Amino acid sequence: MFLVLICRPRRNRKSSAIRALVQETRLHPSDLIYPLFVIDGAGQREPIASMPGIYRLSLDLLLKEIGKAALLSIPAVALFPVIPKEKKDEEGSEAWNPKGILQQTIRAIKREFPEICVIADVALDPYTSHGHDGVVDERGEVMNDETIETLVRMALVQAEAGVDMVAPSDMMDGRVRAIRESLDDEGFHHVNIHAYTAKYASAFYGPFRDALSSKLKFGDKKTYQMNPANQREALLEAALDIEEGADIIMVKPALPYLDVIAKLREATPLPISAYQVSGEYAMLKAAEQNGWIDGPMALLESVMSIKRAGADMIFTYAAPQIAEWLQR
Ligand code: PBG
Repeated sequence: MFLVLICRPRRNRKSSAIRALVQETRLHPSDLIYPLFVIDGAGQREPIASMPGIYRLSLDLLLKEIGKAALLSIPAVALFPVIPKEKKDEEGSEAWNPKGILQQTIRAIKREFPEICVIADVALDPYTSHGHDGVVDERGEVMNDETIETLVRMALVQAEAGVDMVAPSDMMDGRVRAIRESLDDEGFHHVNIHAYTAKYASAFYGPFRDALSSKLKFGDKKTYQMNPANQREALLEAALDIEEGADIIMVKPALPYLDVIAKLREATPLPISAYQVSGEYAMLKAAEQNGWIDGPMALLESVMSIKRAGADMIFTYAAPQIAEWLQR
């Protein structure tokens, strides 16, 4: 017997032309932010075991990599410095060295690629001997207000070096306001604050900590990063960051927190970013290398889902791979 079906959704899927017409979300290289790890020296290209295809690069090679990304129409990079052990200390004081590796890198990129948007993290973990994002007291507690003073110093040296956006990733309370006020006082009103707003205490940051040798020496980050069980709390963090002057708010990690992205999308007109973190990248690559999934397709699907959930822009280590694929 014939079924009389008035509505047949498959009609709108019958050819690739029609599928293209009805496609709701589109990815473009201009949605992507490319995180990069920078190390001292020249000609250095160190593989990161847990992040296949990703390297710690010295400045000369980093500039070449950014040149390639620019040709692929990727508009922004996010920088993470690898600090040698002998330069790490309890306070993370290398973080506000005006001649530090991050500041040198920012200057060099802005000189060579003035049109590329340079984003730098504001948090102490690459610089502290214990791996925490802030200043720790004798009980091992990360101290909020003392940490903010150091974050402000960090943001100012980055602004001085010409950074386009500072990205506080530390999750201290009140840091966005403190950074905004200090930037404005020093004449850096044009520097954006790209706030890590809903940053969860996640197991997916492991490979990143390998890349920076910033594994925690004690404790965990649960007294400052958010509990993965919480969604409403992200609305609170967002309300605070927006009130304090954030220009862009971030959800991190991305794929396990699509509900949070969608909630924030409804709650604010501000641009939202999402960070496909190192562990998300590592999982996809590991499965691909085992022949268990179609790597490029799974990667595109993940990033597309993040955009569909409501992110305007996505940090991804696979930015050039995705951009290249999109250009084909
Ligand atoms: C620093 C910072 C982290 C990441 C970005 N900035 C690590 C952490 O908070 O422990 C993680 C990025 C990734 O895993 O790709 N606070």
